[in-house]
Formats: sequence, C-alpha cells, structure tokens
Amino acid sequence: MKLMRVAGRRGRKLVMLTAYDYPTARLVDEASVDLILVGDSLGMVVLGYETTAPVTMQEMLHHARAVRRAVRRALVIADLPLASLRRGAAAVRDAERLVREIGCDGVKVEWRPGILTTVASMVKRRIPVLGHVGLTPQLVTEPSGFRVQGRRAEEALTILQEALELERAGCFGVVLECVPDRVAALITRRLKIPTIGIGAGPDCDGQVLVLHDLLGLHHGRAARFVKQYARVGETITRAVTAYRDDVRSGRYPSVKHAYSIADDEFRRLRRLLRKNR
Ligand code: KIV
Repeated sequence: MKLMRVAGRRGRKLVMLTAYDYPTARLVDEASVDLILVGDSLGMVVLGYETTAPVTMQEMLHHARAVRRAVRRALVIADLPLASLRRGAAAVRDAERLVREIGCDGVKVEWRPGILTTVASMVKRRIPVLGHVGLTPQLVTEPSGFRVQGRRAEEALTILQEALELERAGCFGVVLECVPDRVAALITRRLKIPTIGIGAGPDCDGQVLVLHDLLGLHHGRAARFVKQYARVGETITRAVTAYRDDVRSGRYPSVKHAYSIADDEFRRLRRLLRKNR
C-alpha cells in the first residue's frame, strides 16, 4: 500500500505541499510530489480568515473533493478542522467521510488535549492519521500568535512527548511546525515514524509548505522559514493591470479575438430583421 511505503521510509525525503482546488492540485500532482495536503490553512490563504479556527467541516469537504478529483499520483491528506476536532466522537465520523466518501488517503490532526482517544478511534477504524505538533495553528487566536515553539527545554520536551504519544496512538507520521532545528532533529531520531517539517530545519524526514507561500501568491511578508520559488502574486497583478488598460483603451478585444459570421448569413439576418419589423 502506497501509505505504508511513505510511512516506512527513511532515506529519500518526503515532499509534501498544500493544494485546495482542482487546477493547482493537478499542477502540484504533475510535479510528482509525494503527498498533497488539503490544509485548513485554506481558511487563511483562500477564504480570507485571519486564522484557521473558523474553517468548517463543510469547507474542508468542498475543497478536499476538488483536490481528490485532480490528483492521480500523490497521496491526498486532508486536515480535520478545529470545528470537527472539538466534537470528539463526531471527528471520527468526519474523518471517515474524508476517507471513505471523498477518497482521501488519510487525515491530519493537530495536537490538542484529549486528541489521543480520537486518534486511537480513527486508527481502529483503519483511517490513516498524520499528527501535527509544535506550532498548532488551530490554537492560535490571532495572527501575532504564530510563533516558534520549543525554544525552552521544558517546552521542547513536551513537544517530543506529544509526538511520541501520537506515534503510540498509531499515527503514520508527524508534522513538526515551527520548532528549533536541533529539537526537530532530536524528535526525528526518537520517532520510528517519519517527521515532516515546516519551519523545523533540515533534519526531518520530509518537508511541507503552503503552496501560496512557495509561489508568492498572497499579500504581506512570508515567514522566515518560507523559501519563495516564484512571485506569482506580482505576475497576477501585472497581468490584470495590463488587461484593464487594454480594455479601457480598446486594444482588447480586437478582431483577432472575435468569431466571424459568413457574409451571406449576415445578409440573411438583415433580411429577417427587415421582415420582422
Ligand atoms: O493547514 C496546513 O496547511 C498545515 C501545514 C502548514 C502543515 O497544517
């Protein structure tokens, strides 16, 4: 099974990227990444919320369905949003919907108190679960709350313990978000399952990024850990400005963008109009 190959891998790095809609999921899949995450980050980068907290299960299902339609090769993992994880047993039913109804290959859950029982129930129902520790955006209530976690020894130990507990509960991997590089390396060595880092340095088993960060497809400054591979936001603004100028000046649309009608048909149209006057 594809997921077992991913879960068992220590060697080539796992490449994971988010996608939230059909066209971008197709493009990301065609670039042969290993995993595509329908992250609840969609709340911030696609839906315009300030944090991921308001994302609903309906929104996750809607976007996961579009991504699933597009992806042929990569494994598709979908986030369970805060609204779902808060509801305990209902979260297990939501996870089953994402996997059995939509066809996702697994779900991701962020650490929160009481999560282990929920994870264990999902695993018992054969739902592959990816854990998430360190910075857990669902617990962040305002934009200034996105901060590095585990810079103090006690805090780093807690993150390690959470990761180990998620492993024991049956997760196939763990995302480490915004933790110091040496802490992430230590956690990676202590776990048997792969770690996937984001803002966690170079020693995790894999890496995940938010597609919009990688592409430069948003307003404002990206976090320190983001490597921006393109400036798609600027390209879009330039293209839309040129379109606006062309339409206003009459340069677009021109004859070369138009469809024609044969002369005799057009003459017939005029005759029809005269008759119908
Ligand atoms: O929602 C998301 O995109 C995530 C990644 C940042 C790991 O959780």
